[in-house]
Amino acid sequence: MTNNEDKTMTVKIFDTPEVQDFLNIVAGFDQAGGSQRAKQIMHRLLSDLYKLIDDFDVTEEEYWSTVSLLNALGHDTQFGLLSPGLGFDHYLDMRQDAIDAEAKRTGGTPRTIEGPLYVAGAPEAEGFARMDDGSDPEAEVMWLTGQVRDVDGTPIAGAKVEIWHCNSKGNYSFFDPTQSEYNMRRSIYADGEGRYTARSIIPSGYGVPEGAPTDVVLKALGRHGERPAHIHYFVSAPEHQHLTTQINLAGDPYTFDDFAFATREELVVPAKRIEDPAEIAKRELDGPFAEVVFDIDLTRTDAAELQHRHKRPRAKETEAQESQLAGSAKV
Ligand code: DHB
Ligand code: FE
Repeated sequence: MTNNEDKTMTVKIFDTPEVQDFLNIVAGFDQAGGSQRAKQIMHRLLSDLYKLIDDFDVTEEEYWSTVSLLNALGHDTQFGLLSPGLGFDHYLDMRQDAIDAEAKRTGGTPRTIEGPLYVAGAPEAEGFARMDDGSDPEAEVMWLTGQVRDVDGTPIAGAKVEIWHCNSKGNYSFFDPTQSEYNMRRSIYADGEGRYTARSIIPSGYGVPEGAPTDVVLKALGRHGERPAHIHYFVSAPEHQHLTTQINLAGDPYTFDDFAFATREELVVPAKRIEDPAEIAKRELDGPFAEVVFDIDLTRTDAAELQHRHKRPRAKETEAQESQLAGSAKV
């Protein structure tokens, strides 16, 4: 260690009046305009970061290489990808779980993260939809079905089940421009018994692109950027709480090692291979397939704002420029 480094190690300025007064000015506390909440949050954020710089003796080199990494993340619209990797999405879920528990809205299928790759406006169908466009013939056919019910077991006829998932290479339509529009994205209204059925293909796992800024952050932590094979859901019905969830297919090496922390025990579902010719014929398929069954229980609520998904920038849903959407194309 050089003398110079020795010296900086002993410098602690965060608690001095100069720094504290400076933080108040930077956060705009002495200005009439702006938003009080923005000022308070920025003050807290900057205070925590200034203190961190002091406590860890962050060097100029470390500081500016971090600025550069943030620029790269923004340039590649990757904050939406990094967010689940750093646990923010799961942390927000933990908070919503606690809010539901306090309000006694319990007993339903657990929520888990939306992820950054939803696209609004998928084709709608009643009871059944074929989700894939048939262009992935090597992929195993998936027969995905289940029943939507109230927590007391009553089927919810007409519940809206939105499903999206990636192809056998881990790519999502829209973000992967080589796929047809809305490939493996559908909204299915449950039938009179609350049942929905989709014919699709078994998705593969998903990995953060090698060398991408998100990957750089994860590698610095000694972590990988892999997700198990999974299928996303939005489920909604009048008088019930909107549910954002996913299933993770059992047996994937990453089922319990998901970089996005979305796996929950109750959401791990097996894909059962079915070879019985009668079952194949019943579904008008050409050969063996994998059946995935996922029943969904929704909690009841009268609160209108809980019956819809929360607002966030989403592809084809928001006025935000598509180039600014989380993960657009660079995933
Ligand atoms: C990410 C990708 C996903 O498909 C998903 O469901 C969640 C997160 C990501 O790249 O961060
Ligand atoms: Fe996903």
